[in-house]
Amino acid sequence: MAHTGDSVLILDFGSQYTQLIARRIRELGVYAEILPCNATVADIRAFNPRAIILSGSPYSVYAPDAPRCAPEVFTMSKPILGLCYGLQLIAQEFGGEVDKSAKREYGRAEITVKDKSAKLFKDFPPHANVWMSHGDSLSKIPPGFHVTARSANAPFAGIANADESIVGIQFHPEVAHTEGGTQILYNFLFEIAKIEANWNPSDFIESTIKDIRERAGTDTVICALSGGVDSAVAAVLVHRAVGKQLKCIHVDNGLMRRGESAEVMHTFRDHFGIDLDFRDASDLFLDRLDGVSDPEEKRKIIGKAFIDVLSEEAEKFRGAKFLVQGTIYPDVIESLSFKGPSATIKSHHNVGGLPEKMHLKLIEPLRELFKDEVRNVGRALGIPEHFIDRHPFPGPGLAIRVIGAITREKLEVLRSADAIFIEELRAWKLYSETWQAFAVVLPVQTVGVMGDERTYENVVALRAVTSVDGMTADWARLPHDFLAHVSSRISNEVRGLSRVVYDISSKPPATIEWE
Ligand code: XMP
Repeated sequence: MAHTGDSVLILDFGSQYTQLIARRIRELGVYAEILPCNATVADIRAFNPRAIILSGSPYSVYAPDAPRCAPEVFTMSKPILGLCYGLQLIAQEFGGEVDKSAKREYGRAEITVKDKSAKLFKDFPPHANVWMSHGDSLSKIPPGFHVTARSANAPFAGIANADESIVGIQFHPEVAHTEGGTQILYNFLFEIAKIEANWNPSDFIESTIKDIRERAGTDTVICALSGGVDSAVAAVLVHRAVGKQLKCIHVDNGLMRRGESAEVMHTFRDHFGIDLDFRDASDLFLDRLDGVSDPEEKRKIIGKAFIDVLSEEAEKFRGAKFLVQGTIYPDVIESLSFKGPSATIKSHHNVGGLPEKMHLKLIEPLRELFKDEVRNVGRALGIPEHFIDRHPFPGPGLAIRVIGAITREKLEVLRSADAIFIEELRAWKLYSETWQAFAVVLPVQTVGVMGDERTYENVVALRAVTSVDGMTADWARLPHDFLAHVSSRISNEVRGLSRVVYDISSKPPATIEWE
């Protein structure tokens, strides 16, 4: 679905922050999309942005394989903002110089605004702490440009051309650590590019429902409702559009958390009146996983089993023409990303060949939304809050939280410990302060003592993280009293455990999941 109002194009040169730029712009009420930096001129013209932002990059502009964009980008007469690497590209393009041997700056740095009347720095403090992440920096500004800001190690931390239609800064206004970062993006959008803010999620619902109705006509649409926020919001949106033409199926793969399938069935069948079938496929999944301990192998088996089950179910709807998927914007970007940190699409979003096999066309109504936008759409559609605010849950479910070989017994231990942890997080009002929290069963046995007897049982690790997007994360500083209470409940109520530990690793270097 094309956005009709003013929009911004972000060209991605591989920075870890590119998604954040798009989020910040959308938070300012302007629609933004990301394209890889090597997008063709035709693609860029087709998108017809009002302004273009050039992202940062882990590369040096001098590297032989340094990413570039089409040179026409600079002659389209669109306002351009270059961030970090983007600034260096502008400098190089217009005849400035970039110094490889300059002093690096990583992390916090102070900048001073040199040009007090610069539009980009309107209402911005004269000195501000900003987030830097650069090796190279500008040593000569291009003719016709002037300096707008400097830092201790970067004398040209901000530049602008004469009419300020092409501007660049060495730091990252999109990260939360940059003071006044939002003001800079605001100034670029509204002072420099004169864009109109007209992006808002409720218009999105209306226009999406209309689009889906037109596309689906009177045909049958099928959807696998996993219980995740994305597939739930997608299903409710499509249900609004086509009602009973939507046929949903919830597959219990034996790897769900306690009570999860029942809750999905209740919410969507009873509350929303969606035509929702239930298939208990837990034996099929667990038998195929028997004895498998390699995490990637587990993921493959689960993905394949899911397709097998779904194909069988879809046989019932031979006439169906469409399949709904809860793909969201970060998944789309990941699959397009220019040598970004994660260039592969997540396996759970790739229903591997099913649409082709069944001759189904995809309906992906959330393709353009970030997670928080999806949640807002879900709220506007009346999905209960306790469902909307749920933590992300991986497609392979509890399989990747039983480290090593999966057994039904270990899954039960995990399910019980996890349920206690989550129940207590909710009770202590800590649930929504964490991005994700869960238990993990480790494949080590340690000694314990119970009554007069020594035991030799498994270890459960609790993991809780704070994060804005799951790309980086920190371990949640949960109160000691809370952890003590959870640990004691788990030890008392769950059999088959000798101890409970709390994971204090951040991402990076660790990941959120253990497998
Ligand atoms: P990591 O562990 O990579 O996780 O820091 C980042 C986010 O992705 C989720 N995750 C997955 N989701 N299939 C999924 O659907 C997977 O195989 C998978 N692995 C990790 C993880 O729960 C976190 O939200």
